[in-house]
Amino acid sequence: MTGGTDFWRALFGNDAPVEIEVGSGDGVLLTTMSTRWPTRNFLGIERSPSKSRRISARLARLGIDNVRALQADATCLVTSVIPCDSVAAYHVYFPDPWPKRGHAGRRIFSTTFVAGLARTLTAGGPLFFATDVEWYAAVARTCIVAGGVFLEAAARDDHPGLQTSFARKYRAAGRPLYAYTFVRMGEPAAAQGFAASKIRST
Ligand SMILES: C[S@@+](CC[C@H](N)C(=O)[O-])C[C@H]1O[C@@H](n2cnc3c(N)ncnc32)[C@H](O)[C@@H]1O
Repeated sequence: MTGGTDFWRALFGNDAPVEIEVGSGDGVLLTTMSTRWPTRNFLGIERSPSKSRRISARLARLGIDNVRALQADATCLVTSVIPCDSVAAYHVYFPDPWPKRGHAGRRIFSTTFVAGLARTLTAGGPLFFATDVEWYAAVARTCIVAGGVFLEAAARDDHPGLQTSFARKYRAAGRPLYAYTFVRMGEPAAAQGFAASKIRST
């Protein structure tokens, strides 16, 4: 991490790498990852106030100190708040596909969201994504690679997105799951003159 050291230290109290889960739901994966990787920090961004409250209660109950939960719109945070080149990995699992044509604008994967991920993720850092909806997998993959910043990496059996609550529920129901890893290529965003305001205006 470079530019975001002070920002993340203020939140976590240390300089460990920070991974972000967008749309954490009930927070099960956050607790799983925090136990498996105790030397990393995890931030869960969840838009729903009630789910966000449940995540915070769960973290407090389990006494987990390397996870923070934030109730917010993730697109707003990655676009305008999170510092450039400061996130070690992003996790986006089972986002709502919004299948009706008139609702397509509500999907999390948009040009603006992907540009925000590209700006804030460290060069070489992974973006993990999983869904149970085949057509939405294609739509999201196209959106992710369209900007030329993300490259799709090889499939992996230990993909973290296969351990969320929705993944477990869908696997139990016999539904196929689609899990992908993308890598942020190229120079750090700061070296390219990126700033939050520049991303917001495109
Ligand atoms: C279908 S659930 C999946 C939950 C979890 N990822 C899992 O796999 O179990 C999608 C979650 O994303 C959240 N969400 C949707 N749009 C969001 C946004 N813009 N920012 C943050 N969270 C969002 C929803 O509130 C919901 O909890």
